[in-house]
Amino acid sequence: MKELSLHLLDVAKNSVTAGAGHVDISLTEDDGGWLTITIRDDGRGMSPEFLARVTDPFTTTRTTRKVGLGLPLYRLAAEQTGGSLDIQSTVGAGTTVTAKFQRRHLDCPPLGDLPGTIALLIQGSPDIEFTYRHATPNGTAELSTAELREVLGEDVSLAEPEIFAWIQDYLTEQEEQAAVSIDPAAMIKGEIT
Ligand SMILES: Nc1ncnc2c1ncn2[C@@H]1O[C@H](COP(=O)(O)OP(=O)(O)OP(=O)(O)O)[C@@H](O)[C@H]1O
Ligand SMILES: [Mg+2]
Repeated sequence: MKELSLHLLDVAKNSVTAGAGHVDISLTEDDGGWLTITIRDDGRGMSPEFLARVTDPFTTTRTTRKVGLGLPLYRLAAEQTGGSLDIQSTVGAGTTVTAKFQRRHLDCPPLGDLPGTIALLIQGSPDIEFTYRHATPNGTAELSTAELREVLGEDVSLAEPEIFAWIQDYLTEQEEQAAVSIDPAAMIKGEIT
């Protein structure tokens, strides 16, 4: 079973590939176990015709192989928990991918390593602005590369290994505070009402 952080990495990489200058990643958990992951970019967007087919595995603009699987697998993962995937996109303006997961569903993958994933994304695209926010009933983990840049000054690249380590540590501490523990005894199998 794939971790949600790996799906998040896939979808955010699509935003980077689409030429985004700003990628906003937001995770919101409510006290009913529902997790909403929203990834919004200001990249090139998709036409309505393309968008209609984009969660179909036979749709992709990649030239190296025929099928793109990022979004279809993401949709499948969300739907297997009783959730859903929604994509809004406008050519020349950007794309918003919203997925809902029920974390108490037996088929819901674990969150995985969110601090490492965010640190990796930033290191891989040090000139893009990322905003990240994970809000739960217990607390909030937050990071903005624009704010980081302001503190660090123009001479420091966000690709530096020290920055990677700092982001990882900073978010790990915040994620520990915000973490929601899922009670195995309260897991739901099958339909959620
Ligand atoms: N945020 C986005 N902005 C613009 N186009 C997008 C965006 N996300 C996806 N697309 C388009 O949808 C296609 C399918 O995306 P998907 O992630 O499913 O597969 P892929 O990226 O092509 O391949 P894979 O993720 O399997 O490596 C992409 O090739 C791209 O053309
Ligand atoms: Mg992809």
